[in-house]
Amino acid sequence: MRILVTGASGLLGLNLCLKYAHEHELSGVVNRRTLQDAPFPTVPLDLTDGDALKKVLDEKQPEYLIHCAAMADVDRCERDPEEAWRINAQAPAQLASLCAERNIGFLHVSTDAVFDGERGSYTEEDQPNPLSVYAHTKLEGEQGVLAANSHALVIRVNFYGFSLSGSRSLAEFFLYNLLDNRPVKGFTDVHFCPLYVGDLAEVMFAMLEKKLSGLYHVVSPECLSKYDFGRRIADRFELDGSLIAPVSVYDGGLLAKRSPNLTLRVDKLLAAGIILPGQAAGLEHFHTHFQHGYPELIKSYAG
Ligand SMILES: NC(=O)c1ccc[n+]([C@@H]2O[C@H](COP(=O)([O-])OP(=O)(O)OC[C@H]3O[C@@H](n4cnc5c(N)ncnc54)[C@H](OP(=O)(O)O)[C@@H]3O)[C@@H](O)[C@H]2O)c1
Repeated sequence: MRILVTGASGLLGLNLCLKYAHEHELSGVVNRRTLQDAPFPTVPLDLTDGDALKKVLDEKQPEYLIHCAAMADVDRCERDPEEAWRINAQAPAQLASLCAERNIGFLHVSTDAVFDGERGSYTEEDQPNPLSVYAHTKLEGEQGVLAANSHALVIRVNFYGFSLSGSRSLAEFFLYNLLDNRPVKGFTDVHFCPLYVGDLAEVMFAMLEKKLSGLYHVVSPECLSKYDFGRRIADRFELDGSLIAPVSVYDGGLLAKRSPNLTLRVDKLLAAGIILPGQAAGLEHFHTHFQHGYPELIKSYAG
């Protein structure tokens, strides 16, 4: 398949491109960061520039556009809500509409954070109630996509893995601090269902192959607290888990409001015949990649 992936310098986009660069004709959109010697062509593009966007779509003529780009730093979104809106709300709706006009399949990545996290176990039918600028703009983005393109696939995700900076994901935070024997805090009252990014990429391709459309929750069926997640990483890497102090999110001094229970139900996806890994399987893949030098490989692409 000929595929254009946005956010190819980001955690999800880069992992997805690296995993599938040899199987598909992939190009990756980057913006402020460049990639050096990546095994797929990159396209520099600011997605908020509508004319440049059209030009790239017409030049590349992809069969699918996988839209991983976003302003995903929640505290940066609080500080710059207009830019967050342009990237997270306006750009996805425009992309969805341009893809509909050109008959390009469109997969949009959204977030579990559209919910307020008061209850947890949310289904696709439950009413979102975003708490932060990031979550508000992401919700507007997914609504804009679904309104502009009836064939679009929108997935609400949560994931971890190795990134260009080495510091983008919670798993990297726990792993590198524990490797250096540094004490860290883990929230006992924030629950989520993260997937390993390589597993998420596989699920995304499986969903495209099945030609699914509409809104789906794509997370691990096994949910846990952020503190327990850190302990699971410590166990798998045989590191000292007692370095992780169990704390409440309300003691953390974070700028943007966090939703405490972001556990999602995945019944709709399972009913579509997609298999989702639990935490042990995901951490096994994370650990294997670490042992094979994948974090160093990823960082070697930093331009
Ligand atoms: N990480 C998580 O745990 C998590 C959880 C739930 C949902 N999500 C969603 O998953 C998706 C991927 O997240 P991520 O963690 O991979 O993000 P990330 O690592 O922060 O990467 C963001 C990507 O978006 C690109 N980008 C930002 N503004 C752009 C613009 N104006 N034009 C073109 N590209 C632009 C960045 O390009 P440059 O760096 O080159 O500027 C980068 O490649 C996002 O939709 C996010 O909301 C993430």
